[in-house]
Amino acid sequence: MFSRRSFIVLAGAAAAASQQRSRAQTGARFFSLGIASGSPGPDSVILWTRLAPDPLNGGGMTPGRADVRVRVARDPAMRNVIRDDMVATTGAKAHSVHYKVEGLEPGREYWYQFSYDGEDTVIGRTRTTNPKDAEARIALAYCQSYEGGFYAAYRDMAEWLPDLVIHTGDYIYEGGIGKLGATMRDVGGGERRLFETVRLHNSSEIVSLFDYRNRYALYKSDPDLQAAHAAAPWIVAMDDHEIDNNWAGDLPQDPDKQTALEFKVRKLAAFQAYYEHMPIEAPPVISGVQSGLQMYGLYRLGPAQVHLLDTRQFRTNQPCGDGRKVSCEEALDPAQTMLGGDQEKWLFRELTRSNAPFNLIATQVWFTPYRYNAPPEAPQMNFDSWDGYPLARQRLSDVLAQGVRNPVFLTGDWHTAMASTVYQTPLDTRSKRIGHELVGASISSGCPWARDMEIMRDANPHVAHLNGNKRGYLRVTVKKDDCIGDFRVVEDVGRANSAVTSELEIHTKDI
Ligand SMILES: [Fe+2]
Repeated sequence: MFSRRSFIVLAGAAAAASQQRSRAQTGARFFSLGIASGSPGPDSVILWTRLAPDPLNGGGMTPGRADVRVRVARDPAMRNVIRDDMVATTGAKAHSVHYKVEGLEPGREYWYQFSYDGEDTVIGRTRTTNPKDAEARIALAYCQSYEGGFYAAYRDMAEWLPDLVIHTGDYIYEGGIGKLGATMRDVGGGERRLFETVRLHNSSEIVSLFDYRNRYALYKSDPDLQAAHAAAPWIVAMDDHEIDNNWAGDLPQDPDKQTALEFKVRKLAAFQAYYEHMPIEAPPVISGVQSGLQMYGLYRLGPAQVHLLDTRQFRTNQPCGDGRKVSCEEALDPAQTMLGGDQEKWLFRELTRSNAPFNLIATQVWFTPYRYNAPPEAPQMNFDSWDGYPLARQRLSDVLAQGVRNPVFLTGDWHTAMASTVYQTPLDTRSKRIGHELVGASISSGCPWARDMEIMRDANPHVAHLNGNKRGYLRVTVKKDDCIGDFRVVEDVGRANSAVTSELEIHTKDI
C-alpha cells in the first residue's frame, strides 16, 4: 500500500537526490562531499560531513578550528527540530564532522542538515533500528571502482529508501591512473570480453594520508553515491583496497615492494582517512606505528540480527602463497585465523544467544566454497576467501550447525553475484544444510574471472545463482519467516543514468 507517509518520504528523498545532483553540478563550496549517517542503534545514529572547498587537493580549509551547525528534525521539511547544535572540527581530522545523536525513538525516521558559513547541505534521511519492526529492508553494496563504472546502482538504491545499507568494502581502490576507454581482455579458453574504464583516478597509487584523503574525496564527489548516503544509514567495514590489495593483518600483498614498517605507516594513514570519510563513531586507535580501527559490530533490525564482520584486520596471512590454489599443509595450521580470537569469540557468543528469526553475517569475502576445477582433482580455490582458512570456517560452521536460526551470509569482494546453500562440510551437499549466502553484484568493479567461474558451475552444485557479468547491488528483505534477495543489475555501467532492474528474486527457503 502506498501510504501518505511513504509518499512524503519518497518525495523528500527524490528532492534530496535531485538537489544533490544540481549541487554537484553547480559546485558546493564547503560541503562538496555530501553528508552521511551510520551505525544506527535503537536510540542513536552518527551523522557525518566534511568541510572541503578544495576536495581533491587536501581539502582546502586552513588547519584551525571550524564550528559546523547540525540540526536534526522529526520531519523532512526540518520544521520539528529536536537538536540544534554546534560541532567543532579541525584540520587534524581533515575538517570531518562526526556527531552522535542520542535519545532518539526506535524504528523511526529522522532528517538532518549541516550548515557552515551561510551554506546548507541537502537534508538527509536516516532511521533508527527497532527489534520490534515487522521487516527489515537492507541494501548490500561493495566494490565501487571509480574507473570501472558510474554509480547508477546507488541512484537506484537511494530511491528504494532502505532501512540500512551495508557496505562490505572496496569503497575506494588504491591503484593509479588507468587508461580511458574500452579494451578487449583475454578471459581464458580463447575467449575475449569487453572491459571499460569510464573515468580516471586522480593520482598514482596512494600511500600517504594526503593521498588517501584525496582519493576518498574523488569517490565521494559522485552525486549518486552522495544520494545513497543521504537516503539511509550505512554500516561499513573495509576490505582490502581501502589500503592495499589482499593485505592481511600487518602484511601487505607485496612485501618485496614495501617494508613492514612502510606498510604499518600506510595502514595508519588509510585507517585515519577511512574514519574521516565514514559515519563511524570512533577514530583509529594509534600507538607508535601500530593502529587499529573498530569495524565489526552488532545491529538488530526487526527479524534480522546483523553481525558485521572485519575479515582483514585480524586475519593471518593467506596460506600456500595466496591466489587460486590447491590446499597445502599451511592452510591446516591451527594458528590460521580469519577473524582473530576476540572477534571470533564475540561472533560465536552473539550467534549462540541470538533470538532473532534470521541471523545475517556480513563478511567481506565469500564463505561459500568455490572450486575452479572439476572432481576428482583436488579442489583449486581462492585462498584470499574463507577457502584459504578451512579450520576457521569449520569452527564457524559448527557453531551455526548447533541451532543458530537461519544464518544468511551477505558478502562482497568477488565482483560476482551469487546465491548458495551453505553446508556444514564444504563441497559436500550430503552434509547438513546450515544456512545460505547471498552476494549481490559489485557496484561498478569488473570481473575478469567470470568465465573461469561459469565453466565450473557444475562442479559447484551448492551454488544456485552466479553472474559475474553485471554490476549492481542486492536488496534484502527479511520478514519473520522469509529472507528475500532481489538482485538489482545495472544495464550499462558506462552511463550514470542507466536503467537498473531486477534480474531475479531468491527466497532463501527455496534454495
Ligand atoms: Fe573489489
